[in-house]
Amino acid sequence: MLVALLGCGNVGAALASLLVERSHEIETRTGLRFELAGIAVLDLTRPRPAALDPALFTGDAKGLVERPDVDVVVELIGGLDPARTLVESALRAGKPVVTGNKVLVAQSGAELAEVATANGVDLLYEAAVAGAVPVIRPLRESLAGERVLRVMGIVNGTTNYILSRMADDGMDYAEALAEAQALGLAERDPSADVSGDDAAAKAAILAALAFGSDVLGTTVEREGITAIRAVDVAYATRLGYVIKLLAVAELVDGGPDVSVRVHPAMLPATHPLAAVRGPFNAIFLEGEAAGELMLYGRGAGGPPTASAVLGDLIDAARNLRSGAHAPAPHRAATVVRPSADLRSAFYISLDVVDRSGVLAAVATAFGAHDVSIRVMEQDGLGGEARLVFLTHTAREGDVRATLDELRGIDTVERVGTVLRVVEADDSTGEPAT
Ligand code: HSE
Repeated sequence: MLVALLGCGNVGAALASLLVERSHEIETRTGLRFELAGIAVLDLTRPRPAALDPALFTGDAKGLVERPDVDVVVELIGGLDPARTLVESALRAGKPVVTGNKVLVAQSGAELAEVATANGVDLLYEAAVAGAVPVIRPLRESLAGERVLRVMGIVNGTTNYILSRMADDGMDYAEALAEAQALGLAERDPSADVSGDDAAAKAAILAALAFGSDVLGTTVEREGITAIRAVDVAYATRLGYVIKLLAVAELVDGGPDVSVRVHPAMLPATHPLAAVRGPFNAIFLEGEAAGELMLYGRGAGGPPTASAVLGDLIDAARNLRSGAHAPAPHRAATVVRPSADLRSAFYISLDVVDRSGVLAAVATAFGAHDVSIRVMEQDGLGGEARLVFLTHTAREGDVRATLDELRGIDTVERVGTVLRVVEADDSTGEPAT
């Protein structure tokens, strides 16, 4: 099988090395012999791994994809352009495509899957969500008959590392981010990770697989982690919670409407996702018959992500040989409900002037919007005080209206961090009997 590799960053270079190093082992195990036809890169002058023959490198990605002897195309360029055009032209030429490009799949996955199906070939993208962790294939195959109720994932290693260091070692956000960058765990420009954009693309892909939802990566509601302070993390710990950035896709009120979103949330310290620390990823799935499942592992980095690409490559090559292809994900017209309609408990932190009557005014604002307080703590800060509230379950729109009213009270100096709280009993329950 001749493989055209598009892109030779961390993952591309790791895949190329695995293909060279494991060639014999893969052939023994699968009967497939992979060879690189070429590696298309933007910058031909950049140093490349010594194990890779320099003659393989080309600046002409389009020419490489169109070469008649190329059987399979692996796209690891990332982004929409030129990846989309190259992937589409490979599929139209009857060549299966393996991609790790979450932005492309989250934005154009449905149309590209149609092109793949029309041409009888695979479009596989296990590496696009949670790196080495198998989640696409389990959703598409193992859970093909399951009624998935909720998918909740820690799908960004950078933010999970930062939040773990804040919780475990009392670091503040900037310090933890700087350390993640120094260790090469965070990009030099980490904005797509810390803003939730990276997780939003992954949430859209998970929603498409779990619910047939046609939500695009760009339209997923998202909040990142940049506003979380060391003091919020300390409160969460004291109250028995862990703060995690979650990508959530779930049926609302049993469906068919869905919610797809990314935001930090306080999880009970006993929740299985609370144990996912450092750069690790995990996807927690709830199915009507299957109950709860969790998939855990390394969600980023060259070799782990290349491992997922390699699995897809073998699958695509096997299918190509037998004339089969993976079924395109089922699509259903789903209504994506805005977060304002959803119900959740909330953590709210307020900086207020420390004098009599302030608490009464604050409590009145909560009551006026039907948001009931479950826990309140106060810390004195000289002439000011910090009030921290945990609410009972409330409609998010009502909580936002409360926050707007609080901002208008002159003794409220600042509305600080606001986080959704996942309650210990907030699961979709035991499997149906
Ligand atoms: N930058 C991502 C992360 C990996 O930190 O998990 C690629 O999506």
